[in-house]
Amino acid sequence: MERDAAAGTSAAEALGPQGPGAGAPEGSSTMEGEGGKSEVIVAVVTEPQFTQHCREYLEKHRLLDRRHRVKQLPDGTMALPILGETLSEQHLQALKQRGAPDSTCRLAQILNPVPSKKSQNCSPAQKLCQELRCLVEGQGHTWSAELEKDLPHSWQRHGDLLLLNEDSFRAAHWKKLEPGLWKTVASALGGQRLAKRGRVSPGGTRAPKVILLLGAHGWVEHVDNGIRYTFDVTQSMFSFGNITEKLRVASMACAGEVLVDLYAGIGYFTLPFLIHANAAFVHACEWDPHAAAALRKNLELNGVVDRCCIHLGDNRQLKLWSIADRVNLGLIPSSEEGWPTACRVLRQDTGGILHIHHNVESFPGKELQLPSSSEAGQKEQRAARNSGRQTPAKIAKLEWQKWAEAVAARIGALLLQLHGKPWETRILHVQPVKSYAPHVDHVVLDLDCRPFSCSGEGVGKAERSCGQGPKV
Ligand SMILES: C[S@@+](CC[C@H](N)C(=O)[O-])C[C@H]1O[C@@H](n2cnc3c(N)ncnc32)[C@H](O)[C@@H]1O
Repeated sequence: MERDAAAGTSAAEALGPQGPGAGAPEGSSTMEGEGGKSEVIVAVVTEPQFTQHCREYLEKHRLLDRRHRVKQLPDGTMALPILGETLSEQHLQALKQRGAPDSTCRLAQILNPVPSKKSQNCSPAQKLCQELRCLVEGQGHTWSAELEKDLPHSWQRHGDLLLLNEDSFRAAHWKKLEPGLWKTVASALGGQRLAKRGRVSPGGTRAPKVILLLGAHGWVEHVDNGIRYTFDVTQSMFSFGNITEKLRVASMACAGEVLVDLYAGIGYFTLPFLIHANAAFVHACEWDPHAAAALRKNLELNGVVDRCCIHLGDNRQLKLWSIADRVNLGLIPSSEEGWPTACRVLRQDTGGILHIHHNVESFPGKELQLPSSSEAGQKEQRAARNSGRQTPAKIAKLEWQKWAEAVAARIGALLLQLHGKPWETRILHVQPVKSYAPHVDHVVLDLDCRPFSCSGEGVGKAERSCGQGPKV
């Protein structure tokens, strides 16, 4: 074995499809070629009769790379992949002296090695474990149960960016392997960029603490129900769990309506309201500049920027009055702080519909089959009977019904106070969105709110006696 004095490392031949001398750069693990990136690994080359001896030695010293197959070279010698980028002179001498004195053990690089059967058949999590074990052992450290327990079991894929949960890679040891560690993790999981999240910080913005570990930026794109959403994962979050509500919103008939989305985020509801439900115009309120920037991009990406006005700031200070046919209040655990604004922006002449999100607690075994017993509920039912309307919507759980009735009463009182005249609030529907925690459901109340003068029976959106003013 020769030594490359200048580099101070073992010299290695490059063995590509053409065999020795194909010209791979020394010590690198990937290289650019005409056809894109090639992988380069280092192997010990020996005569076929010494293969078994060599394998045992490498296995014993945890130097054998099990991710790649042993390769027969054109001259009949065998190349055994090793972990790391070189093998010490000491190991090479030991290999020769202790059992293979006649062998000509030398190092060589192999271009595009063939993955072993074992590594081809395993899950991404197993592959990640294998690759990291190789990385750790290849750098002369010991693989431990602690490290194995610290690997991620799930992650979110956003195109080529993988978002890891906060409960992985917490052991101090990983620090020693950075930054190469993140390249290995990303490639094992089939990505190019990598980020890791912390806890969602308490407070209104629900801003995730996400750190970019690999890659130049955190912008990603999703297509959901035909709508393109882009956002920066380090600044905003994507709610995969709200899909049922996004689909329900998309199926609403909002043609000609003006809508206020009080908690617009990156546009999870603003966009389906505009694109699928055909709302004429949306006022989207958002106080987080990062989310607002993503929302603007999303409106542009989907060609609806001219039908939306973004109000950057606290929606409680919103300077709009009596313009909305519909208000969306998509904030959990509660959107209560937005109720006064929602009531202010509802049209005074015709009223409109509120979609109020909330986390409602329920207790097991108490399914609702009875009419409401609460005072607000009884009032609501009396009003429904007096107006000749059907009884209110069936609601799956008693707690949801009680909560909805309390909200209807509270919103009625707010509307009276704000507009100086009585309003009727009617529960149209309570929609479950997802289970948020054990016995806590994220639900949406659809609440129809009409000033009494125009809430007569049979008066629909198109035929309200008060008529509708011009749209924005
Ligand atoms: C959980 S996100 C909801 C986004 C979307 N409605 C959904 O349900 O997926 C709530 C958004 O409301 C914004 N927000 C919270 N309180 C606000 C306030 N008082 N004024 C304006 N925006 C607010 C947050 O910044 C965040 O982007």
